[in-house]
Amino acid sequence: MKKILVTGGAGYIGAHTAVELMNAGYETVLIDNFSKSNRTLLEGIEKITGKKVSFYEGDCLDEVFLQNVFKSHGPFSCVMHFAAYKSVGESVQDPLGYYRNNIQSLVTLLQVMKQNNVKDIVFSSSCTVYGQPDHIPVDENTPFKRAESPYGATKQMCERVLEDAFITGFKVISLRYFNPIGAHPSAWIGELPIGPPNNLVPYITQTAIGIREKLTVFGSDYNTPDGTCIRDFIHVVDLALAHIKAMEYLNKVSEPTHYQTLNLGTGLGVSVMQLINQFIEVTKVKLPYVMGPRRPGDVEKVYADPAKANRLIEWKTKYSVADALLHAWQWEKKLAGRS
Ligand code: WQD
Repeated sequence: MKKILVTGGAGYIGAHTAVELMNAGYETVLIDNFSKSNRTLLEGIEKITGKKVSFYEGDCLDEVFLQNVFKSHGPFSCVMHFAAYKSVGESVQDPLGYYRNNIQSLVTLLQVMKQNNVKDIVFSSSCTVYGQPDHIPVDENTPFKRAESPYGATKQMCERVLEDAFITGFKVISLRYFNPIGAHPSAWIGELPIGPPNNLVPYITQTAIGIREKLTVFGSDYNTPDGTCIRDFIHVVDLALAHIKAMEYLNKVSEPTHYQTLNLGTGLGVSVMQLINQFIEVTKVKLPYVMGPRRPGDVEKVYADPAKANRLIEWKTKYSVADALLHAWQWEKKLAGRS
C-alpha cells in the first residue's frame, strides 16, 4: 500500500491536511522537527480520526534522517512538503535562518525523493511570491514583483528550484496559500503559535481570551478603504482539502514530469479592520485594539483569483471567514481549558 509523506505534519496546515488524508483512507506518515510545533496537534489528529498517527521526529535538512524515513516507512506515492518557517515579520528579523531552512530543506528533500524514485510533490508556496502586485486579484500568470520579505523571497526561490528540477523527473504542484485562518470544527486542532503570535488571527484570539493585553493594528494609513491592509483569509480546512485534490490531480497526470502552480484563496479581499469587526460580531466578545505603525515586510493588499484551482483540481472554498473566526475562537477556548 503506497503511503503519503507529510513533512511539517505537527504544524498548522500539515496537521489539518493529515486529518483529511487519514479520513479519506490514505496511509500517512508525518515528520516534524518541533522547531515551531509540539505534540499537541498530533494528539488532536488522533482524537479526530480515531487512528494512531505514524510520526517520526526529525529535520528535513538532515539527509540521513530523510533517507531512513523513505527506506523504513515508504514507499511513498506522494510527498506533501509543509516544513518551513512562515512568518513574514520574523523573516525580516532572521533572513539567514529563513533562507537556510526554507530553501535547503526543499533541495535535500528533492534529492532524497529522487534517490528513492518518488516523483510527486505538493509544495506549500505562498501568495507572498507576488510581492505587491500591480493588479488584484492576482492569477497564477501575475509576474512576481520583488518579494516584500525574506519569507516571500524564500518561496519565490523554492518555486524556481522546482521549475528547474521538475524536468529531471518530478511531478509538482505549488500551492500558493493566501492567508490560512481558523481551526478544525472539532476544536481538537488549530493554530498553535510557540511564543507571541506573528499572525493576525491567533493574536486576536489570544487577546480576546486574555493572554495578550491588546491587539495592535499594524498600519492604518495604507491606500485602502479603511486604511488597513487587505488580505484573502481562507479557512484552513478548505486549504487542507485542496491538498488532497492536488495530489489526486498529480496522480492522474500521465506525462513523466509536470509542473503547475495554483492560487488557494477565496477570491474575497478583507481588511484587517473588517476582520476585527467580524470577529467581535461573530463571538460577541470584547477585543481591545490600538492603531500602531506599519510592520516592515507587509504587502498593502493582495487577494486571489482562484479560477484556475476551481477548474484544474475541481476545488473551491466552502467555509466563510465568519466560520473560520468562530472555529479559531472555539480552539482558543479549548486550549484555555474552557468549553
Ligand atoms: C496579516 C495582516 C499585518 C498581526 C501570512 C502568512 C504567510 C503567508 C501569507 C502562507 C497584515 C496585520 C498582523 C498583528 C496586525 N501565507 N497584523 N497585527 O503577513 O499576510 O502572512 O499570509 O504561506 O505564511 O504568515 O499574515 O497574519 O501576519 O498579517 O495588524 O498583531 O494583519 O500587518 O497586514 P501575512 P499576518
